[in-house]
Parts: sequence; C-alpha cells; structure tokens
Amino acid sequence: MDIENEIDVATQRALLDKVHRHTGIHMAERKWTLLQGRLRRRLQALELGRYRDYLAVLDERPDEVSAFINLVTTNETSFFRTPRIWDHFWQQLLPEWYRQHHGATLQLWSAAASTGEEAYSMAMLCEEFRERHPAFKYQILATDIASDVLAVGKSGHYQGKSIEGLRRGRPELFAKYFQASGGGYLVAPSLRAHVVFREHHLHRRLDGASRFDITLLRNVLIYFDEQGQCNVLENVRRAMAPAGVLVIGESESLTRLNVGFDFELPLIYRRQERVHA
Ligand SMILES: C[S@@+](CC[C@H](N)C(=O)[O-])C[C@H]1O[C@@H](n2cnc3c(N)ncnc32)[C@H](O)[C@@H]1O
Repeated sequence: MDIENEIDVATQRALLDKVHRHTGIHMAERKWTLLQGRLRRRLQALELGRYRDYLAVLDERPDEVSAFINLVTTNETSFFRTPRIWDHFWQQLLPEWYRQHHGATLQLWSAAASTGEEAYSMAMLCEEFRERHPAFKYQILATDIASDVLAVGKSGHYQGKSIEGLRRGRPELFAKYFQASGGGYLVAPSLRAHVVFREHHLHRRLDGASRFDITLLRNVLIYFDEQGQCNVLENVRRAMAPAGVLVIGESESLTRLNVGFDFELPLIYRRQERVHA
C-alpha cells in the first residue's frame, strides 16, 4: 500500500490536536515529521493510504486510541537514570522517612513509569533498605498512559540496552535481583511483589485515597505546555501525603509555576501543606 507523502495542513493540525486531546502532549508543528514517521507504520498496518483516513479511524474506533497513544509517546528510560537522584533517595529520603514513620508503609509512585525501570530501581533500593531494617514496609505504584510500555513493566522481563546498563552500572544489584530468562532477564519475585502497574492519564485525578510519600514525575512534564504542567502537578499534589517529596527530571523545573511545591534541592521538591493562591 502506497502512503501519501504530501499531507495538507488541516490534516496535520488535526492529528497534532488528537495527540493533545488524548495525551495532553503539546507537539509543536515543527514536530510534524517525527509524528508522521511514527504514524506511517500504523497506516501501513491498517492498510490506509491517507492520513486523513486515519483521522476517521481514530474517531470511529475507540480501541485505536490506545494504539495511537502507544505510537505518539516517547518512552525512553533506564535503570537508575540520573544517579544523583538515586544517591539522594538512598542516603536521605529512605532513612529520613523511616525515622519519622515507624510502623507505616512507605507509599511510592512512579508517575510516568514507561517500561518500569524507574519503579524497579526504587524497589531494589527499598529491598536493600529492608535488609538493613526488617520492619521497613513499602509499596510502589507505577503508572503510565501507554499500554504497551506498561505491559513490559508488568512482565518484568528486560533485554538489550536497558538491562546491560544496569549490569554495567550496578553489577551487584543486577546479580541479586535479575535471573536469565528467555534471551533476557526477569526481575526477582521479591521486587515484583511490591510493584503494581496501572494505566493512568496524568491529566486526570488519580482515583482512590492515595497518599504518596515520594513521587517520581520525571521526564514527562517537558511534553506538556504550561497549563498542562500546572494541571498535572495539581493532580499529583492531591495524591501526595503532606510534606511528600516530588522528584522531577533534569530538564524540568517548577520554579516559574505556582503549584504547591517548595524547592528543596535541584530536582527535589516538597509538597506544601496548604497552597496559597
Ligand atoms: C520519557 S518517559 C519517562 C520515563 C521515566 N519517568 C524516566 O524518567 O526515565 C515519559 C513517559 O511519560 C508517559 N506519558 C506521556 N504523557 C502522559 C500522560 N498524559 N499521562 C501519563 N503518562 C504519560 C509516556 O508514555 C512515557 O512512557
């Protein structure tokens, strides 16, 4: 099937609008080539020759929305991405929380979890902490809008670049928590038992009475415009415990936004008890 190369401006805009409507991701028009490349494969699979026909499919078939979301999201991640965050997590956040909350269960949220490396990085450090403090308890929620990456996280099966990075960077944790399986490596049941994966759109409120003590919202705010960022941060704030800790990505900052978090250290913020207008 031949796919058209010239796409009219109205169709381009309509597809960029769909990205925004379904994910909150703000894609500037100059990103059109990137989007076109990703959509091309989908058009081929559906045997469609014109992008405007794909717009109709998106409107008529709700199940196509999930495939569309999987295509348009960028899911790059790795174990222990941004090492200084993890040093802080291990040296400060875990001991500080444990000192202040004896008997409670630490609630952690990987709020744009992608394929789960971030959630399992937390789990490995929590397991290590538990070895030293047997009374320590923790639970991790890993959410993302894209169903295909969540499926990888749920499977706990990693191969290629992702697991090689862990093997090189943290050989002792790799050896302890991963087992060779089916041409890749499977995460240990002791970690999986603590991590729940779930689909969640950050522009919506998280249901349930969640009170996360530590939330990792990393490398996702960059995809939203300012209003979208404020909306997401308000949803995240509501799901967090008072004085809960929020960790963001290296190219992100909350300093210009009045969103109910106080700066603590670069990339680390603390939820305010009350928000002042
Ligand atoms: C670049 S990855 C970041 C993964 C991980 N947090 C990290 O820093 O390594 C961004 C993730 O955000 C997810 N995402 C994008 N828009 C989202 C939304 N509106 N709600 C929830 N997740 C979203 C994408 O599917 C993608 O997996």
